Amino acid sequence: MSTRKIIIDTDPGQDDALAILLALGSPELEVLGISCVAGNVPLHYTTRNALLVAELARRSDVPVFAGCDRPMVRDLVTAEEVHGKTGLDGPDWDEPTSSLAPGHAVDWLIETLMAADDGEITLCPIGPLTNIGMALVREPRIKPKIAEIVSMGGGYFVGGNITPAAEFNIYVDPHAAHTVYSSGIPLVAMPLDVTHKALMRDEWIQSVRDLGGDLGNKTADMLSFYERYDLERYGDFGGPLHDPATIAWLLKPELYGGKDVYVQIETHSEVTMGMTVVDYWHKLGQAPNCRWIHEVDADGFFALLSERLANLA
Ligand code: RIB
Ligand code: CA
Repeated sequence: MSTRKIIIDTDPGQDDALAILLALGSPELEVLGISCVAGNVPLHYTTRNALLVAELARRSDVPVFAGCDRPMVRDLVTAEEVHGKTGLDGPDWDEPTSSLAPGHAVDWLIETLMAADDGEITLCPIGPLTNIGMALVREPRIKPKIAEIVSMGGGYFVGGNITPAAEFNIYVDPHAAHTVYSSGIPLVAMPLDVTHKALMRDEWIQSVRDLGGDLGNKTADMLSFYERYDLERYGDFGGPLHDPATIAWLLKPELYGGKDVYVQIETHSEVTMGMTVVDYWHKLGQAPNCRWIHEVDADGFFALLSERLANLA
């Protein structure tokens, strides 16, 4: 089997953790490294959390790098109300025994991409796009090296989750998002439009716990903590598991449906800051800059997650 080389750029976050576990439990993917960014919680927690998740998967061989600790222009906005103070609340964690790889994540991204062949590496950003945006500004020659960017972010038909207009990852760093969406690099967006169609059920979380061991119990503890916020806010029967959608797309794109569209990022109005303005009906006549995913086979998604988590248990 030929493996696909990916880099996960992340702000763990319990749902980020599930994305990382899904990738590490899937032999089709070679995770070259994990680059961390400030988002759900400050950078010192997102780096700690990424180390913890790699250890939980018994994959401390995967290098973890610290990236940007604030957005390109705006002040950092975090989401402890969703993810808890540490960003990975739920389980009773010990501190990581592994260490961060040396150097800044943006430098590592550039070095790794510049040493690669054209189209060799896929980027999976599942937090604010600050690291990716900064790498593109610093070294535009990385563009042809990137096969595609599969990003969790944005929302159109379902609106926003941090403001009425904007989804959190895009809202935190709309300027980085604009840099990515205007880069010309093949881009797949996994927005709230699709992630809100795959809601966790308690029975599924229990099936994760039934995997047993640290993997089963800590993962279920993360998920139970994480879903409480959405149950309170949305009243749904389960929380949306946002970030793993990016990895699931790489593994089984047939689970998803979407449309090639032109998307702009609002970077001026405070009312709509960070809004992903999707020209779904092609009114502007602009060439599409991303594939906007809005349909998912939810049962297939959770079955894939269960199958790959079992590989790690
Ligand atoms: O809006 C959901 C996104 O914001 C997810 O990536 C979640 O982890 C948070 O970063
Ligand atoms: Ca995230």
